[in-house]
Amino acid sequence: MERILVIGSSGQIGSELVLELRKIYGNNNVFATDIKNPTDEIKHGGPFQILDVLDYQNLLHFLVRNKITQVYNLAAVLSGNAEKIPLQAWDINMKALMNTLMAARQSDAKKLFWPSSIAVFGPTTPRHNTPQLTVMEPNTVYGISKLAGERWGEYFFNRYGVDFRSVRYPGLISYKTEPGGGTTDYAVEIFYEAIKKGSYESFLSEDTALPMMFMDDAIKNTIKLMQTDADKLSIRSSYNMAGISFTPEELAAEIKKHIPEFTISYKPDFRQAIADSWPASIDDSVAKKDWGLETIYDIQKMTKVMLEETEKKLKA
Ligand code: SER
Repeated sequence: MERILVIGSSGQIGSELVLELRKIYGNNNVFATDIKNPTDEIKHGGPFQILDVLDYQNLLHFLVRNKITQVYNLAAVLSGNAEKIPLQAWDINMKALMNTLMAARQSDAKKLFWPSSIAVFGPTTPRHNTPQLTVMEPNTVYGISKLAGERWGEYFFNRYGVDFRSVRYPGLISYKTEPGGGTTDYAVEIFYEAIKKGSYESFLSEDTALPMMFMDDAIKNTIKLMQTDADKLSIRSSYNMAGISFTPEELAAEIKKHIPEFTISYKPDFRQAIADSWPASIDDSVAKKDWGLETIYDIQKMTKVMLEETEKKLKA
């Protein structure tokens, strides 16, 4: 029987991942933890505890005490925020990962998921259809920490047998919990502003193409990767995951089909340089071949659901 710990369960990914895992593994086998309070759904649906992943002894005790077999560690400072506090962000992102790697080694929680990101790529990487194996010279703190994390994950797999698994998430779009401080956040903010004000000022320029993915697809594939037999996985750093690529202008045009009076303006800030250093589109054929990565949301379907659900949320 699997006993699962999700670290960062109050965040954008965690708040949805916990609910999905509880459906599969049973409410009482999925432990949600964060340093922030969770959503009501998470708090009332199963075990939740405040836990700081930076406190190694506490983390290790938690794993042993609760007989945890799998960990999803989602705690991180995102790209935009990390640029404001570079050294602190490096400390937090790396220590959060190293603590779970070491705790996995020292306990029965041998299976570990940790998210990497398209931020591992940099300005010297081929921008279109970026391959799984390619030049990686990230120039953001967040990207450097994600690349270092991938290397450490693979190292712990080879050296200590920790069953490390990871995907390079594109920008994630969801309506349950908002992201915070990321470069791809515009693609979530735009829906809130479209409904509240009928207009949006984008912090990325109109023609900035980035890979994105709807949260349902991201969660489904994350769990699929974790359920795949270990011998099928040829990548123990992190798998490319493409999703859908579009620009702010293309997303705005899609929103206009539902809200004809919607307008968008552009005022790029410091996050433009971050976006410009990332791929516009990704080749994820290795993930498709190894473990059957598949997505069902295109920009049309995603926009429709985002508008409907964000409206419901704002009304409530
Ligand atoms: N969505 C993240 C960010 O923008 C990238 O992993 O920081």
